[in-house]
Amino acid sequence: MKRTLLATSLAALLAPALFPIAAAQAQTSQAEAQVNALEGLAGPQPGARRSGAKGICASGHFVGNAVGRSLTSASAFSGAQVPVVARFSVGGGNPKASDKGKSVRGLALAFQLPGNEVWQMANISAPVFFVARPDQFAPFVQARTADPATGKPDPEKLKAFNAANPETLRQAAYLAQAPVPASYGTVNYWGVNAFEFVNAKGESRFARWQFVPEAGTQGLSDEQLKAMPDDFLAGELRQRVAAKPVVFDMKLQLAEAGDNLTDPTVAWPDTRALVPVGQLVITQVEAGMGGACDGMTFNPVALPAGIKPSADPVLNARAAPYAISLGRRLGEAARR
Ligand code: HEM
Repeated sequence: MKRTLLATSLAALLAPALFPIAAAQAQTSQAEAQVNALEGLAGPQPGARRSGAKGICASGHFVGNAVGRSLTSASAFSGAQVPVVARFSVGGGNPKASDKGKSVRGLALAFQLPGNEVWQMANISAPVFFVARPDQFAPFVQARTADPATGKPDPEKLKAFNAANPETLRQAAYLAQAPVPASYGTVNYWGVNAFEFVNAKGESRFARWQFVPEAGTQGLSDEQLKAMPDDFLAGELRQRVAAKPVVFDMKLQLAEAGDNLTDPTVAWPDTRALVPVGQLVITQVEAGMGGACDGMTFNPVALPAGIKPSADPVLNARAAPYAISLGRRLGEAARR
């Protein structure tokens, strides 16, 4: 009796201390499962990012405007030039993916703010993401992975996953009707996840950002696509930037009451205010494949004071798999 009591009270005492460890382990295993699933889909690609594997490093600066300053106290909007490290990429875990594919293009940014603050983000050329919840990520990828026996994804498994998770088809539906981008500099990039912007008066607004190309959006027709090689995006951007800086307007889509702040598969109505808050200016592209962006990851919850993550579970699940992918690829690169 005494021993049971002691054991019970010991367990009660330890429970709060042990719970965070158990929760952290559960989080880690989900993140590992996500990265393992990406590796399963792309096959071994030593040294490469497990997603957005094909890409190039670039750099430039960001200048925020008065609208940005009215919405957030973040120093990125002070109006001074903020140095930015950028990476443009093609979706998926294959570093040799074709630039002609109907996957997403990526724009990852790291703003180097005064006082050693950083603001990192990884944006895509679609207004929605493919999963609503992090637990859908690995099964979504696995359902699209070739079965070793047939060399193709199992059609029954894929059908069953899609039927049970219809919201995971919205991104593919968007990409199917969008043309393949002609340039990394002529496509719209969306942040997709919602963030909370807090200004100097403590007033807060939820918003989603996008980067709108000043050159306009330009896609390739089917005819043009046929004549293109599999690799043209990196060379095209180098030439474009050498001639003239490539500019994107950063815009915030402001949420209104009732808008979904936690599900990145749901786009907000087009009627929501879309306000320009600054300009991203890309002034340099690396001549080769490496560069400053290579040894880093773009953690989308690395945020400056004045911008907070929303409760979107997909956003809050991103840091761990990015760190795991970074660790694995740097380890592989070091062993080569
Ligand atoms: C649970 C959800 C997600 C998982 C598990 C995931 C996983 C990953 C991983 C493992 C990487 C490679 C990181 C590295 O090696 O540095 C990556 C990169 C990337 N992800 Fe995600 N991701 C998720 C959500 C998203 C969302 C919502 C977006 C779009 C807003 C996004 C856009 C990107 C982009 C553009 C890259 C390439 C970044 C770069 O150029 O370094 N991801 N993701």
